[in-house]
Amino acid sequence: MANKKKILIKKTGATRVKENKTLYIGIDLGTNHTAISTSEGKKKSILSVVGIPKDAVASKFLKKERLYGDEALKHRVALNMFKPIESGLLKNQREDLEAAKGLLQYIMGLVDANHDVKKYAIIGVPSQASVLNKKIITEMAKGFFDGVMVASEPFCVAYNLGEMEHSLVVDIGAGTTDICRVHGTLPEPDDQISSNKAGDYIDAELVRLISEEYTNVRVTNEVAKKWKEQSSFVGESQEEIVVDVPVDSSILKLSITKDIRMACESIIPDIMSGISKLISTYDPDFQEYLRNNIWLAGGGSQIRNIDVVLTKELELIDGGKVFKDTDPVFSGANGALKLAQDMPPEFWQTA
Ligand SMILES: Nc1ncnc2c1ncn2[C@@H]1O[C@H](COP(=O)(O)OP(=O)(O)OP(=O)(O)O)[C@@H](O)[C@H]1O
Ligand SMILES: [Mg+2]
Repeated sequence: MANKKKILIKKTGATRVKENKTLYIGIDLGTNHTAISTSEGKKKSILSVVGIPKDAVASKFLKKERLYGDEALKHRVALNMFKPIESGLLKNQREDLEAAKGLLQYIMGLVDANHDVKKYAIIGVPSQASVLNKKIITEMAKGFFDGVMVASEPFCVAYNLGEMEHSLVVDIGAGTTDICRVHGTLPEPDDQISSNKAGDYIDAELVRLISEEYTNVRVTNEVAKKWKEQSSFVGESQEEIVVDVPVDSSILKLSITKDIRMACESIIPDIMSGISKLISTYDPDFQEYLRNNIWLAGGGSQIRNIDVVLTKELELIDGGKVFKDTDPVFSGANGALKLAQDMPPEFWQTA
């Protein structure tokens, strides 16, 4: 909800009422997608890719100097593509910083957030982003806002869920899986563990497994990602997964049930060791609360059965309860927005 203050302004004898609005903004700046949510109730999510036409012909044909998200992906053969965030970190090259700025400006435009009001934003970034990377993001974003702060993404998810005491958030993104212990305050480095076994790793595993099994079949990471998003699962297989693959001049039907399962399960050991470490190093009086309050978030939390398999694995280390976030696309951005709205006004004077 926009915070409206009414200011009375005296002008040439007449009294005019001017609305001084403040717009709060939550942003989840991810490797795969960037999501935004504003206090005016608007939200949008786009793929974190930017395309610049390769030459004057492409630029004339596409009628644009820059393309974003799905539109860039669609025309990628005519574009130089930039993914400004890699393995959860904003790249520090000039082109990538420009691309990230363009992405921010574009997504702000999609939610009409470029108008002239005071804007305060919190940007969710992967939990392990270094102090330097946080600084680079803050600098990059400063021009857009009157106040900006970066916060750990899983912490924003916990804030959105209202699970601020003794909770563990497992955010399975594209570049990283971030596991974060939340206990009422902003998380410290010891509260967080990150692994690079996440969505992109599953895609690469799927490509590797399929090409090992079918030597004449060539699959790209993009196609593997599509198959994964359609059919991901872990644990017992539910139904056979068959995909069409062009081989030479014909179409082959491949069963990839086992490959999908193995690729998706490849991220489980790191998640389990992260959970186990964060529980065992927590205050013993509250370990029981923590193990029974584990939340899966991020795109990878949509892998079918992953909550069931993790619950089973937890039985080997004294048990626990695992829940799935119901809005993996906007949970981080919504949490960042709530946090921005709850910060005391004095905070924004220095942010
Ligand atoms: N149904 C699904 N099953 C499995 N994985 C999925 C599914 N839907 C999306 N994903 C995967 O989730 C990942 C994207 O998750 P998300 O959008 O949370 O990442 P991100 O926040 O951009 O990345 P990061 O947090 O690493 O910076 C991608 O690898 C995508 O393929
Ligand atoms: Mg993420």
